Amino acid sequence: MNIAVIGAQWGDEGKGKIVDFLAKDADLIVRYSGGANAGHTIVHGDKVYKLHLIPSGVIYPGKKVILGTGMVIDPDALFQELETISAQGVQWEGRVFISGRAHLVLPGYKQIDIDIDKKRKKPIGTTGRGIGVTFSQKAMRDGMRLVDIYNPERMALLNEDDRNYLAGFAERLKPMMVDVTSYILHHRPTKLLLEGAQGVLLDLDLGTYPYVSSGYSAAAGAALGAGIGPRDIDGILGVFKAYSTRVGNGPFPTEFVQDRDGDLEHLVREIGHEYGVTTGRPRRCGYLDLVALKYACASNGIDGLVLTHLDVYDSLTSVKACVAYEIDGSETTDFPMGLPELDKAKPVLQEFVGWNSPITGITHFDDLPQAAKDYIAFIEDYTNTAITIVSVGSDRKQTILRREPWTKY
Ligand code: IMP
Repeated sequence: MNIAVIGAQWGDEGKGKIVDFLAKDADLIVRYSGGANAGHTIVHGDKVYKLHLIPSGVIYPGKKVILGTGMVIDPDALFQELETISAQGVQWEGRVFISGRAHLVLPGYKQIDIDIDKKRKKPIGTTGRGIGVTFSQKAMRDGMRLVDIYNPERMALLNEDDRNYLAGFAERLKPMMVDVTSYILHHRPTKLLLEGAQGVLLDLDLGTYPYVSSGYSAAAGAALGAGIGPRDIDGILGVFKAYSTRVGNGPFPTEFVQDRDGDLEHLVREIGHEYGVTTGRPRRCGYLDLVALKYACASNGIDGLVLTHLDVYDSLTSVKACVAYEIDGSETTDFPMGLPELDKAKPVLQEFVGWNSPITGITHFDDLPQAAKDYIAFIEDYTNTAITIVSVGSDRKQTILRREPWTKY
């Protein structure tokens, strides 16, 4: 049974927490996309783990994790992160592996990334982690994969500094390197968890191009990025928040505006801790965008939705969500391809009664306030997709399971 967990918005949906929750029953966790641009926060009681490259499943003792082929690996950042989790008591030795086919971020790439973005007429607002540069090199066929460190012919193509830099990691990386396809074939995990990074709307092909990342964060990327076939994915879970956020530039039709929405942005950002884990940037916040969520469900074959951060709305007497866009005077429920349309799109907002009571201690769906259940039912109806997990707080325990996740969808 293989399940993919993807972000159904612009990243930061709470995938880390959900992967950690599902990891309990998984035999193997493979992260299939992104790099050190991602930020996954996992909270266990008073311990907070912030991960960028390492799959979130690593926090579960004994679980084996693989950084998949669809990722780009910054060796420096990787070992720094391993050191940090070691200091937090996570024993990772012998259970963190890396696809030999994954591409490597070379030291100069981060500065090039920053310089290129600065020179753009309309900067993307990248994380400056060299992600786009590494993926460009990969597409140009000039990139360095992990396996290439052990190939003198490939190493000879690098300048001396880069060659020395990679050679310095060769010994430590060697025992971690695997052919992810063979690994899965030989170990035959009964429950394989495919962990995404970023989200559908930041996917290179499906997202709001060019304001996207450079990898394939969509469900289709899970197969390539983990080295398995698309038909081997048995279930796709799409994680989304009760509202929307976006870091960096680019269209965001439901973004809060002070005149219309008062202090909502401040409330959501502070209660939801909406600051980038990687860059510390305040995230842009807005209403739940059901037009975009429906598009994410359709373009990824999402089998079950996972609703997170529902508790952020606990103090509200009324909750709104976007049910259509108004573009040049006409309404549409289709997510536009073009930037001018997305920029012009005004959200058509539907108002729901707020639950106005704390839900962070609720562990059974039936115990949620009726108003929260009504909001959930509306989303399910609109997207034609069941909400199978509801998260009401950052801790692993604050998770309401509505359907056994490890079953055929
Ligand atoms: P890059 O991935 O650093 O090239 O950044 C491209 C865009 O994706 C920027 O708008 C980033 O803010 C955004 N981005 C990249 N990774 C994440 C993430 O993990 N969460 C949210 N936004 C991200």
